[in-house]
Amino acid sequence: MPHIDTDFVRSQFPALARIISGQPVAYLDGPGGTQVPQRVLDAMRDYLVTSNSNIHGFFATTEETDAMIAGARETLGDFFGCGPDEVAFGANMTTLNFLLAQAIGRDLQPGDEILITEIDHEANRGPWLHLAERGVLVREVPVHTSTCTLDWDAFETMVKPGRTKVIALNYASNAVGTVSDVARAAARAREVGALSVVDAVHYALHGPIDVKAIGCDFLLCSAYKFFGPHIGVAYARRPVLDALRTLTLSTQEPEPPFKLETGTLNHEGIAGAAAAIEFIADFGRRNEDLVADELPDGLQGRRRAIVAGMLASEWHERPIARRLIEELSAIDGVTVYGPPAGHPRTSTVSFTIDGIEAADVCRTLGERGLFLWDGHFYAFKLVERLGLMDRGGLVRAGLAPYNTMDEAERLIAAVAELATSARGGRT
Ligand SMILES: Cc1ncc(COP(=O)(O)O)c(C=O)c1O
Repeated sequence: MPHIDTDFVRSQFPALARIISGQPVAYLDGPGGTQVPQRVLDAMRDYLVTSNSNIHGFFATTEETDAMIAGARETLGDFFGCGPDEVAFGANMTTLNFLLAQAIGRDLQPGDEILITEIDHEANRGPWLHLAERGVLVREVPVHTSTCTLDWDAFETMVKPGRTKVIALNYASNAVGTVSDVARAAARAREVGALSVVDAVHYALHGPIDVKAIGCDFLLCSAYKFFGPHIGVAYARRPVLDALRTLTLSTQEPEPPFKLETGTLNHEGIAGAAAAIEFIADFGRRNEDLVADELPDGLQGRRRAIVAGMLASEWHERPIARRLIEELSAIDGVTVYGPPAGHPRTSTVSFTIDGIEAADVCRTLGERGLFLWDGHFYAFKLVERLGLMDRGGLVRAGLAPYNTMDEAERLIAAVAELATSARGGRT
C-alpha cells in the first residue's frame, strides 16, 4: 500500500519529540494551531539575525526585508492561486476581516443586507454583525443541526438581488469539519452584485485553495493553522480591492495590496508563513505520485507542488479520519457530530461523551499525551444550535500530515475507557 513518508514528515517538527506520561504527545489540536517545522523556525530566526529592518530604505537589511516581503507575496499567491498584488498580510484573520468589514461598510446604506451563517466562527460573523449599527440588516443562513450542513434552500431565498451586498461564509467549519460550497455562494453573490468573503482559516490545512475557481472576492486565513507563525493572510481580488475604500492613514500606502495592511508588518512572521508554504510544496514534490490522478491539468512549478502537497495531506488524513468517525461512533455513549458520509469534510472529528463534560475529557486525555481542544472553538452559534453550549461543547480531534493511525488508535482506546467509566463501568 503506498503511503506518505510519515517518519520524514514527523522528523521536520521538533515539537513531536515531546513525551508525556511515557508516551509521545499526539498533537490532535491542529484546528487550534498546528505544530511548526524546523524550516519555519529557521526562516524566522534567519530573518531576525541577518535582515532585521524596517522597509523601503537604502541599505542591505532594509532592501533584504523588501525583497523577503515581495517574495512572500509571490509564495502566498501560489498558495491561493492568485498574483502577489492580491495578497495582504495582517495580525490575524479576525483583524483583517474587521478592516475589510469596516471598509465595505462605508459604502453600505440602511436597508442593505449582509448574509452570514450559523456555521461560521465568530471571526466571520462579528465584524459583519457590527455593521447593523449602520442600519444594515445582517441575516443568518441557518444550519441543519442533524447534518451540520448549511441550509442551501434557505440561502437561496435569503439572497436578494439589489439588496444583498455581502455574502460571508466559511470554507470549512472549524468545529465539525463540514466543507461548504463556497463557489456556489460566490457565484450567487456575483449574480446579485454582492461581494463574497470566504473564511478559509480551517480549510487551508486540509485542501488546495484556488481563489479563481471559487470566484470569491476575498478569502482570509491564518498561517498558524498551516505550520506557520501567528499572522493572518488575505486574498483580495483586483480590481475589487482597488475600489475598496479602506480606512487608511497618511502613513499607509493607499495602493493594493498594501491598503489592507496597517502599521509595521510582522516581518519575521511573514518569513515564517512563506517557509510554511515551502514546506507544503516540498511535501507535495515528495508525494506527487500518490495524487497524480487528482492533480488538475496545467499546473506548473511551486503552485503545482503546493496543490500536490495539500492533496497528499488529504490522502494521508482521510483514512485516519474515517477510522476515528467509525470507531468513535460505535462506542456506547459517544456521539460524533459532523456532515454525513459522502459530504465534503475535513479530517476534523468532533464528539461528546455522555456524562462527561468536554473539558474533563480533554484534561484526562491531555494527561495521557493526547492533546485535543474542548468547547465551542468560537463557533458559538453552531454549538448553541447543537444544544451543547451548557454541556461544555465538543471534544475536537484534528488531523495534520504528522498525525498517524497509531495516534488515532490511542485516542479511540482512551475514549472507549472514559465512556465505559462514565457509564459506571458497564461495558
Ligand atoms: C474557521 C476560523 N475562522 C476564523 C478564525 C480566527 O482566526 P484568527 O485567530 O487568525 O483571528 C479561526 C480560529 O480558530 C477559525 O478556526
